[in-house]
Amino acid sequence: MPVVVLPDTGWREAWRDAARRLAAADVPPDEVAWDGVAGLFAPEPLPPAQPLTVPRAFVDLADTVLCHRDPERFALLYRLLHRLRHERGIMGNPADPLMARLEALAKSVRRDSHKMRAFVRFRELPGTDDAPRRRFAAWFEPEHFIVARNAPFFARRFADMDWTILTPDERADFIKGELSVGPGAPKPDLPEDASEALWTTYFTNIFNPARIKLDAMRSEMPVKYWKNMPETQAIPAMLADAERRVIQMRSAAATVAPARAAQISERYRSAMPKAPDRIDTLEQAGEAARHCTRCHLHCDATQTVWGEGPADARLMIVGEQPGDHEDLQGRPFVGPAGEILAEAMGKAGLAREEVWLTNAVKHFKFKPQMTARGGKRRLHQNPDRAEIDICKWWLDLEQRFIQPKLTLALGGTAAYALTGRKEGITRRRGKVEETEGGPVMLSWHPSYILRVPDVGAANEARAQLVEDLRLAARFVA
Ligand code: URA
Repeated sequence: MPVVVLPDTGWREAWRDAARRLAAADVPPDEVAWDGVAGLFAPEPLPPAQPLTVPRAFVDLADTVLCHRDPERFALLYRLLHRLRHERGIMGNPADPLMARLEALAKSVRRDSHKMRAFVRFRELPGTDDAPRRRFAAWFEPEHFIVARNAPFFARRFADMDWTILTPDERADFIKGELSVGPGAPKPDLPEDASEALWTTYFTNIFNPARIKLDAMRSEMPVKYWKNMPETQAIPAMLADAERRVIQMRSAAATVAPARAAQISERYRSAMPKAPDRIDTLEQAGEAARHCTRCHLHCDATQTVWGEGPADARLMIVGEQPGDHEDLQGRPFVGPAGEILAEAMGKAGLAREEVWLTNAVKHFKFKPQMTARGGKRRLHQNPDRAEIDICKWWLDLEQRFIQPKLTLALGGTAAYALTGRKEGITRRRGKVEETEGGPVMLSWHPSYILRVPDVGAANEARAQLVEDLRLAARFVA
């Protein structure tokens, strides 16, 4: 029986040569032992070389399948080559079990090659006097023997540098324009590379938290490749931060103003009870506020957003002004910032129903912006000092009727409205300040947490908001 012993390097060529000789001599597949498994029969020399015509499709399939790690690939390919002598049409029959098996092997190799081209990450090596070109090296762990197959791709793409790709089974070197392939090597210690930070930044920037499909992500970038890709170190942190970023993206994309906003607003006003003549209760204050025309902000906003909660709340929480969602729903903190606040309150053990939630300014201030398709968006604008001062009339009334034990000001606008001071939150947060309206504590506005680009800073601010809410809860308990 012919026994084909394939060498450690050059086994592709050795297989091709042996398979051609055997097929040309019509040696049946069951009578050949590949890779040195001779069985019970004494080895026989291979038949002499003879001309053999093979379809192009077979050559391509064999080149691909030979890269597979499956030890049976040699015998399977030879079986097909032998059948091709008598069944020329077999390659066009994907339902044939042998063809189906070989196609599956080829597909796996193609997929692995695709991953290699996408995921090899070079690190720059120090220059040497005799190598004027920049030098790079990469460590990669492919599933199959695909280095030789893909080396020309890297040579074309990185033609102006010297590089080496090392894998456990094979290596490719491209030195001074000469490509060579040799046996593999253990994982080397490659130097840290500044380009890793660049990759991580790039990856972090293209990461779209609203499109997270973990299964699709793992399938596109299988976890087994992650360890050799610097940018994947950022994935756990990005996933942990994804929810915040989705809310952030949603809040940045201001919703489209409702069609005929002015009429809607008019309908609200005409359906409202008449403004009370006197304001002796919290309820009357709320009714009066719905008719507020004290500043120009009422002209464009849909409606006044008055506070909500129990009239005897011990804690009052004050934000800046209603946002887009609050303006349409007529309730404070029901949009993206409200989600962040609700989460923080939950962690601090505070229920929305037990606090009075309100804003320093009761009308939504925005700038209309035309969209590319001719619609209108409403972009949030910070209220100015005069608008805050004018609206303080309502905030004072809320404080007077509710008499909270503590008022928590979220962000700079509320801090200024309640304390009259503009100094930043960083140094003042978490401490109780005495004011005419009672004790006030400051913390971060949830929109700030949404806006901070840095994940670490956002998480810190979020934790501090929880901490301050806890303190506030303890203070009023
Ligand atoms: N931001 C605020 O300050 N208040 C809200 O009600 C909503 C967003």
